[in-house]
Amino acid sequence: MAKERSVYVCSECGGTSPKWLGKCPACGAWNTLVESVAEAPAAQRHRFAALAPSAPVAVLADIEAAEVARTPTGIAELDRVLGGGVVDGGVVLIGGDPGIGKSTLLLQALDALQRAGMATLYVTGEESGAQVALRSRRLGLERSQVPVLAEIQLEKILAALAENRPQVAVIDSIQTVYSEQLTSAPGSVAQVRECAAHLTRAAKSSGAAIVLVGHVTKEGAIAGPRVLEHMVDTVLYFEGDTHSSFRLVRAIKNRFGAVNEIGVFAMTERGLKGVSNPSAIFLSQHSQPVPGSCVLVTLEGTRPMLVEVQALVDAGGASPRRLSVGLDRDRLAMLLAVLHRHAAIACADQDVFVNAVGGVRIAEPAADLAVLLAIASSLRGRPLPRGFVAFGEVGLAGEVRPAPRGQERLREAAKLGFATAIVPRANAPKANAGGFEGLTIHPVDRIEQAIELVRSLSE
Ligand code: TYD
Ligand code: MG
Repeated sequence: MAKERSVYVCSECGGTSPKWLGKCPACGAWNTLVESVAEAPAAQRHRFAALAPSAPVAVLADIEAAEVARTPTGIAELDRVLGGGVVDGGVVLIGGDPGIGKSTLLLQALDALQRAGMATLYVTGEESGAQVALRSRRLGLERSQVPVLAEIQLEKILAALAENRPQVAVIDSIQTVYSEQLTSAPGSVAQVRECAAHLTRAAKSSGAAIVLVGHVTKEGAIAGPRVLEHMVDTVLYFEGDTHSSFRLVRAIKNRFGAVNEIGVFAMTERGLKGVSNPSAIFLSQHSQPVPGSCVLVTLEGTRPMLVEVQALVDAGGASPRRLSVGLDRDRLAMLLAVLHRHAAIACADQDVFVNAVGGVRIAEPAADLAVLLAIASSLRGRPLPRGFVAFGEVGLAGEVRPAPRGQERLREAAKLGFATAIVPRANAPKANAGGFEGLTIHPVDRIEQAIELVRSLSE
């Protein structure tokens, strides 16, 4: 048998080199060569030989569109992000900061699946069996029948999968797994990619659902340049501030369901508990309205949520800072320019800090209006009116653009007792629409109009 060798493949252009080089010989990019296993020529020939006698291509309309079979995990908020449950042969990548609750959630899910009669396997590479057992006691799962394997070598894990034939397996974490065929250290891009590829193949061939746990690196990508996201069927990320008890699990990619759906959990003494009605958890409790705070209705997946945006504008030094937590920083710079040009509010010599309360990340542009109103409020030192909400995208020309499903957002705000809303004109409900009792809705077309309106409302 030909001996397996390593080659170094450029992550930019795919060029190869037999040894590691700082610069790709093919495209000249720096630090892009990554170790991978060289396939023996015989293996390559076999691959093509296997492809040759394939079935003729059928007409799309004649191919039966089989719905995938899902097994609910029994944890409603997790099932929501998975699109209904785990899928046979499906591979899920779940990422998040260390300590955010990945192992906790997956252990709870495996135990529920095991109790529902499925064969499961929990492969732990980060903790010993004793540590996992300790966690399970804490979670109140003293009688858990989930088989635990403490192993980090890929070949042994694959053997265990083949032998135990679990229907659902968790690999915690993919960064600790290593293959003997590669010389690079566990956690390196080469190892992570190679191991994930083998595990994915094992899932597809055996029909087992496999969940890979991945740590998010400082840059926010899983193990290097998001190497795994394209390989797997579903990508979930944990979000939330580890100091608060709420955790969000967001689907970034899902071949079997909707993306951007979120599941909301609270970390308790006994593990993660689903929060089925999360719309008000990201509001902080002010006894009196305070300057620089504006509540926004954001639509996460299928549920509207109210999130408080806070801004602090303060005299800066020679090069004022712009900092945002949970919101896009480039977008903040753009919004400040819009505020200056169209509403004549200048922050050029001010530090501007913006924060979405509770560690939630807001990517949708519908947050723009609330961010701008919070900044303007902080700058003036005047709070927004009591019970105030806003949403809407703000364009470079100063126009306030509608947000998707505005009526739903407004209904949620009315339900939670908010009194005043400023919204894009196209989102304002028709005169006869119900469900907004107690909420006065002010439609606007432009940012300067919104700023002026807020001024007159808080007089
Ligand atoms: P963990 O699942 O180990 O995080 P990850 O696998 O993402 O690194 O979560 C650990 C944190 O959760 C830790 O700070 C303790 C806390 N925790 C609870 O608050 N309650 C519990 O019941 C458990 C098991 C953990
Ligand atoms: Mg863990």
